[in-house]
Amino acid sequence: MQDISEFSRRTGKKIGFVPTMGYLHEGHCALMIKARDESDIVITSIFVNPAQFSPNEDYNDYPRDFLRDYHICKSCGVDYVFYPDTKEIYPNDYYTYVNVNALTETLEGKYRPEHFKGVTTIVLKLFNIIKPHFAYFGQKDAQQAAVIRKMIKDLNLDIKLKVSETVREVNGLAKSSRNTYLTAEQKEEASALYKALNEGKRLVLKEKMYDTKELKKEIKKFIETNSPDSSLQYIAVTDNNNLEKISNLKDYKGGVLISLAAYYGKTRLIDNILFEK
Ligand code: PAF
Repeated sequence: MQDISEFSRRTGKKIGFVPTMGYLHEGHCALMIKARDESDIVITSIFVNPAQFSPNEDYNDYPRDFLRDYHICKSCGVDYVFYPDTKEIYPNDYYTYVNVNALTETLEGKYRPEHFKGVTTIVLKLFNIIKPHFAYFGQKDAQQAAVIRKMIKDLNLDIKLKVSETVREVNGLAKSSRNTYLTAEQKEEASALYKALNEGKRLVLKEKMYDTKELKKEIKKFIETNSPDSSLQYIAVTDNNNLEKISNLKDYKGGVLISLAAYYGKTRLIDNILFEK
């Protein structure tokens, strides 16, 4: 992979990279198509990264279907699919991990303490293997995008991060490989999450509800009313760049990120909405 990338770079080609854990959906396709538009060579990686799952999470159950993914990559204009073996990425004597402090301690990081260390480690390894000029991520994992942006800046990586809007089902449910765990009824119910986030945005921009405690209470109420089978883990209102909590939006200027996580049975879903205030 490094030889292919090096050759492409030396012949003046721009490399666009879409990292994935496979079981691809339209959200991944949108990233690949954007990469196809903006780069000469498009590379996708498919690797279910054990380092970002804690022992009680779904590493073993995570959906995998390489042939299906390979055909999706081809139909979205990908030139190379990087599909490494776990032992090749993490041999027995593997000792090096990358950590972005502060940004990884809030939101998802509170409930998944080792998760981002695993993400930054694999993403940096993939950047070194694939040597991209552009790297494509989805806004659905808003904190992941912020953490990678910070890693790129702090480590002076010569890579341009491109974050694309979340792709959704017709009912608003964010596309996710984990949606395969949901029943049809749960998929319908879980559409309430995005509706609730939109209601939150409306309350801020139209009703001028600036006290975020009150705002979170309203979003929670909306979810409990419209999705009784959900179990909400958290709702947070933060600055989109540093992910710091905002307690009152009255004098705040900038990107407001409302994010949440909720369980449907054993399936944990995340979603968010980003808007300018
Ligand atoms: O967003 C994902 O699918 C993963 O976290 C990533 C970026 C491919 C790293 O394993």
